[in-house]
Amino acid sequence: MPLFEKQKHIESSFIPDAELVLYHGDVKDFLASLPDSAASLIITSPPYNLGKEYEDRVAIDKYLEAQSQVIAQLYRVLRENGSICWQVGNFVEDGQVFPLDIYYYPIFKKLGLFLRNRIIWHFEHGLHASKRFSGRYETILWFTKSDEYLFNLDPVRVPSKYPGKRHFKGPNKGKPSGNPLGKNPSDLWQIVEQDWDAEIWEIPNVKANHPEKTIHPCQFPIELVERCVLALTNEGDWVFDPYAGVGSSLIAATKHNRRAMGCEKESEYVEIARQRLAAFSNGELAIRPLGKPVFVPTGKEKVTQVPEEWKRAPQHQLLEKKRKYK
Ligand SMILES: C[S@@+](CC[C@H](N)C(=O)[O-])C[C@H]1O[C@@H](n2cnc3c(N)ncnc32)[C@H](O)[C@@H]1O
Repeated sequence: MPLFEKQKHIESSFIPDAELVLYHGDVKDFLASLPDSAASLIITSPPYNLGKEYEDRVAIDKYLEAQSQVIAQLYRVLRENGSICWQVGNFVEDGQVFPLDIYYYPIFKKLGLFLRNRIIWHFEHGLHASKRFSGRYETILWFTKSDEYLFNLDPVRVPSKYPGKRHFKGPNKGKPSGNPLGKNPSDLWQIVEQDWDAEIWEIPNVKANHPEKTIHPCQFPIELVERCVLALTNEGDWVFDPYAGVGSSLIAATKHNRRAMGCEKESEYVEIARQRLAAFSNGELAIRPLGKPVFVPTGKEKVTQVPEEWKRAPQHQLLEKKRKYK
């Protein structure tokens, strides 16, 4: 029996026995309506202060001060055995990079939270930098409120590299040494389940040809949230995204029978989130399946071929030389 009805009613303000809440408005107002210790998992990607269409760029100190106030309230609404997953990249100013997780860390520590992992989410695509190396990862700071926190490893285990390994001495000599459900996925998130040698689960970022892409400029892949939901909550628990955007976290939580609440200030995104949640209930939402391998070119595609005009250029000959020595 499913825990919840598939077609969920979306409440527009917090009601304790609701299944799905999507609030349209400022995060501080929504937080003021929440009781203490409501959420088991708070997972979000906050605005990065980059001057995207949904934010005003301000001095970094001012930005962090405003976020500290929100985080203090998030701490209040987090359950004692709960977790916060804070997904951030870089703030960039005058070509200088400010890794936001470094700036956020003391804010969480000051409140007494415990860092369990700094997860690296690696992706292949993004802007090409010309005066520094191109950025190809962001991080997730996973904090817990106490030492008594929930962590379900089994639902997120990945295939082990050598499942046939056996104990070679001791009382278990000859018995398989690994776990039949697979191994711990580690704190580097690149997972390609079909490739047992590479044993990585690559979660691409949501760019142009990703099946989940909407008009939102910085969407979470649903898959990224699913792993946190499965590992850090139980069915029926509340998952909360204070900067919900187009509802990716809410979909991930709903998919796994958790209650979901989110808050978003832009009406356009709220509307898309509603449509996506409805499409998900009807089985019509295009979602990249959990663990689906990332496309690997065969080398025969036109875009993988070196252009004829480059082949004569000295830079190309240098590159060819390097390839030979690899
Ligand atoms: C990085 S995006 C999150 C995108 C989201 N993870 C998704 O998959 O769609 C940050 C979101 O926070 C929203 N936001 C920014 N400031 C806010 C505030 N004070 N209250 C509520 N939402 C806010 C922005 O409109 C934006 O959609």
